[in-house]
Amino acid sequence: MIVVASAVASQSEASGVGLEQCIVGLPACVTITTRDKAGGHCRSGNAILSAEVCTPDGSVADGEILDHKNGTYDFVYTVNKEGEFSLALRLYDQHIKGSPFRLRVTRSPDPEVSPPTTTATSLTATATPSTGSSEGAKRRGKSPGSGSKKKGSRRTGSALGTPRRRENPIEDDLIFRIGTKGKNKGEFTNLQGVSTSSSGRILIADSNNQCVQIFSNDGEFKSRFGVRGRSPGQLQRPTGVAVHPNGDIIIADYDNKWVSIFSSEGKYKAKLGSGRLMGPKGVSVDQNGHVIVVDNKACTVFIFQPTGKLVTKFGSRGNGDKQFAGPHFAAVNNNNEIIVTDFHNHSVKVFTPEGELLLKFGSNGEGNGQFNAPTGVAVDVNGNIIVADWGNSRIQVFDSSGSFLSYINTSADPLYGPQGLALTSDGHVVVADSGNHCFKVYRYLQ
Ligand SMILES: *[C@@H]1O[C@H](CO)[C@@H](O)[C@H](O)[C@H]1NC(C)=O
Ligand SMILES: *[C@@H]1O[C@H](CO)[C@@H](O)[C@H](O)[C@H]1NC(C)=O
Ligand SMILES: *[C@@H]1O[C@H](CO)[C@@H](O)[C@H](O)[C@H]1NC(C)=O
Repeated sequence: MIVVASAVASQSEASGVGLEQCIVGLPACVTITTRDKAGGHCRSGNAILSAEVCTPDGSVADGEILDHKNGTYDFVYTVNKEGEFSLALRLYDQHIKGSPFRLRVTRSPDPEVSPPTTTATSLTATATPSTGSSEGAKRRGKSPGSGSKKKGSRRTGSALGTPRRRENPIEDDLIFRIGTKGKNKGEFTNLQGVSTSSSGRILIADSNNQCVQIFSNDGEFKSRFGVRGRSPGQLQRPTGVAVHPNGDIIIADYDNKWVSIFSSEGKYKAKLGSGRLMGPKGVSVDQNGHVIVVDNKACTVFIFQPTGKLVTKFGSRGNGDKQFAGPHFAAVNNNNEIIVTDFHNHSVKVFTPEGELLLKFGSNGEGNGQFNAPTGVAVDVNGNIIVADWGNSRIQVFDSSGSFLSYINTSADPLYGPQGLALTSDGHVVVADSGNHCFKVYRYLQ
């Protein structure tokens, strides 16, 4: 008897980072492993596979499938525009396990590897914010990469470890920006979360430098701490930071899958959420001193006592009322309500402390009140909600009912993929301008 191990779609799987995300203009790769109906590896090639990255309007990728002749195949592809697409992988015209996948295509957050292809055409062709002026159009006319390059070449050398504070010569809302790409004090590599303290400090989660850096409200470097690693007390990818009313510094560590607590001097005290958290991105503290953790991977908001005891949790992956499609950061308002940005749902959701949905606002787009993947969020004393709009590289302000109020005027020195955002104790907005590897402080008029 001849046993033919033939590949079946329902058992075949795909893996690789290219399954979820890639960068405009740069090749990405997905590996497909074919299996027979019992789940065993197929060891020969020649299966008929097809791959497609598309929008309702058509295909946006160029790619090819490489047959390794051992039952595995690589799909190597490049996408020519940013956005969220569906990646369909089919074997003999049947979707393989998990297909179609949701693929997020972004421009490079790193100007150094920005591809020459810009998406200016597609961006300028679509609507720009209609009120608030020509700000959107102006910003879009200029590629973020070229903008920061120009600044880079203009800059003069400065002493190692001395952060550069650059005042804004033009009248938008920027007061100053701090930092360039680097590993030294006052320099950043892919900074993410931002927090502030009532004692006049700004804290930055510098994710790729595995540390937290602390500045005064005026942008003066004060200190930093963090040792790279996977043991308790070490940081692997700090993405969220918050300051507890008792002064402790709380850090969400995405890769270590826990939250670390340090003293205000940066001495390690404890960790929480270990074994429960899958990918904590943002962290915040509520009015009871509870630690609110936004687990991006689990699509769940966890509320812990500082001791690590779980108070409650809510949320799962999906588009339902209590669900998320990739939550990033949270803020807490005066009513102790929890405001969460839902990156892939392009919305902001407000919950009671018990996790009941009170309000949801936002949809995908570039208009007023729309988002292209919201990230950082803060709330002022009047309950107004300030949101970093990552894909549109802007900051929007809403009232407590979710009505659009205004933009922070960032036109003179455009943002590039803003992440964490907070209000300083002197009433300014501070935002992590991740793609430009700096943080910026803006005037905020209520
Ligand atoms: C199949 O071949 C490719 C390319 O030679 C190799 O990288 C891969 O590890 C092989 N996979 C298996 C399961 O043998
Ligand atoms: C934003 O600031 C620029 C100056 O950089 C100014 O020309 C523009 O009018 C401002 N936009 C708004 C809406 O105030
Ligand atoms: C966001 O969630 C709503 C339900 O709350 C759903 O109708 C909508 O399709 C979702 N949007 C996206 C882009 O997933």
